[in-house]
Amino acid sequence: MKTSPPEITIAPATPADVPAIAALLRGADLPHEDFAPHVARFLVARKGRAVVGAVGAEVAGEAALLRSLVVASCQRGAGLGGRLVDELERAAGAWGVKRWWLLTTTAEKFFTARGFRAAARSEAPAGIRATGQFNGGCCCSAVCLTRERKGTT
Ligand SMILES: CC(C)(COP(=O)(O)OP(=O)(O)OC[C@H]1O[C@@H](n2cnc3c(N)ncnc32)[C@H](O)[C@@H]1OP(=O)(O)O)[C@@H](O)C(=O)NCCC(=O)NCCS
Repeated sequence: MKTSPPEITIAPATPADVPAIAALLRGADLPHEDFAPHVARFLVARKGRAVVGAVGAEVAGEAALLRSLVVASCQRGAGLGGRLVDELERAAGAWGVKRWWLLTTTAEKFFTARGFRAAARSEAPAGIRATGQFNGGCCCSAVCLTRERKGTT
């Protein structure tokens, strides 16, 4: 009997997902040493038992840092990155988030295609500027991007 391939589902991450998320981030050369304390605000994409994508937020009042967006290389280009961002936006409504901030050296086009615009780091509120990524965790050549969370108006 044939079984159909498992679909990819997106759900809140748990502490048990930390090693798999870290492996994905390491594989994509993204910071992976500092995300574990924030895992309650991470989502993971699963295919069967395998974690094939992740994204997370660090919330500071009505602003949040969107971080650690990663899709396993064999799953890229099929819309999963976009789905992860959309699901995070939905979850962030319940956290009171009204505006996203992020730093990226690798995915500026991905985010600008989804409505983000470039901003000076100094425009970010203090709570965002206090995050590890804004304080050296993300290199100085990273572009700062921002946009309102969808669904806030
Ligand atoms: C960025 C990333 C999460 C996108 O995941 P994905 O599942 O391939 O994304 P989607 O399939 O939803 O979207 C793909 C679209 O984004 C574009 N895209 C994907 N990665 C991109 C990148 N690094 N730079 C520019 N465009 C990118 C594709 O060309 C495609 O465009 P199209 O919709 O016009 O065809 C994935 O490439 C990845 O994990 N990259 C390595 C980690 C990384 O750079 N993360 C960002 C940290 S800020």
